[in-house]
Amino acid sequence: MERISIDALRDRVDGALTDIAQAPTLEALAALKASLVGKQGEIIGLRRQLGQFDPEDRKVFGQVLNDHMAAIGQALEARQAFLEIERDNVVLAAERLDLTLPARKPARGSLHPLTETLEQILDVLCGLGYEIVRGVEVESEWFNFDALNAPEDHPSRGLTDTIYVHEFDTAQTREDGTTPMLMRPQTSPMQIRTMLDREPPLAVAIPGRVYRQDTPDATHVPVFHQIEGLTIGTDISMADLFGTLTAFARTQVGDKTRFRFRPHYFPFTEPSVELDAWIEDPSHPDGGKWVEMLGAGMVHPNVLRNGGIDPEQWQGFAFGIGIERTAMVRYGVPDLRLFADNDLRLLHSFA
Ligand code: DAH
Repeated sequence: MERISIDALRDRVDGALTDIAQAPTLEALAALKASLVGKQGEIIGLRRQLGQFDPEDRKVFGQVLNDHMAAIGQALEARQAFLEIERDNVVLAAERLDLTLPARKPARGSLHPLTETLEQILDVLCGLGYEIVRGVEVESEWFNFDALNAPEDHPSRGLTDTIYVHEFDTAQTREDGTTPMLMRPQTSPMQIRTMLDREPPLAVAIPGRVYRQDTPDATHVPVFHQIEGLTIGTDISMADLFGTLTAFARTQVGDKTRFRFRPHYFPFTEPSVELDAWIEDPSHPDGGKWVEMLGAGMVHPNVLRNGGIDPEQWQGFAFGIGIERTAMVRYGVPDLRLFADNDLRLLHSFA
């Protein structure tokens, strides 16, 4: 077999180093590696030829071959590392997750228009010197009707108006010395509880939920909210009532909306009035309607007596504000069922 010269060996190795440096892919590099240093590889073949050399030549040639083998090994490793990084970069780029996507903003909530109205009215009343008191929702017939001077046959005592907690026979329960329990249809029983609890003079505002046997329509729902107000002092007159409620109503309806006081009847006040505000409603033939916002009046002497207060010495006025009705006027919402519909479009429009 023809012996390869040292120069040819150098050339061959240089050529191999160039091929390695230019191997385009890991697969091509693997093939090259096999053909150079694999079991059947070229360099190994050359090494086998060493046996045919003189001992002197073998030493020199062997030395050169070893050096070049080492150079080829390093070149293979370097190229392999380079191609692996390149491959990884391609994979990483393809699988890249864009973590910079802006996070979804949590939707911002707001107070329900009824809560907003309730809180704002309480603010106004606090500013007028009222103290806020909470009451009970399951009330006794005595506090809700008898103590409030409601006659025995007052229609709202009936089962068609008031929601009783127990079915009962009025006469029979009364003889027991007990009083039937009901879901309070008004916050007014808190007037009596407050009078029995405190000494006059006093000014309290009592917010809360009330219940009635009502079929829902544009101005009625079976569960709604009121704020009861009670002022007791000496020298209290109807002028104080008008002054207080006018000041209050202006804070709710602004300067433009019209409102009016109208005579009315309540068993627990004498005289009694209602306050209405005008609300625009294009669907109405008159272009709007009067909506009742509150009932009020001078506290009836019997009510003061039932609360343990001497009517010769003290006078007072009381009022019951309908929160839903006030919110209707305030926001120009013509149907109060909308407040309970849970429609986000309506709720957002007040946010
Ligand atoms: N309780 C009455 C109602 O629910 C409202 C009311 C009227 C309350 C006159 C009062 C008042 O305190 O004096 O319709």
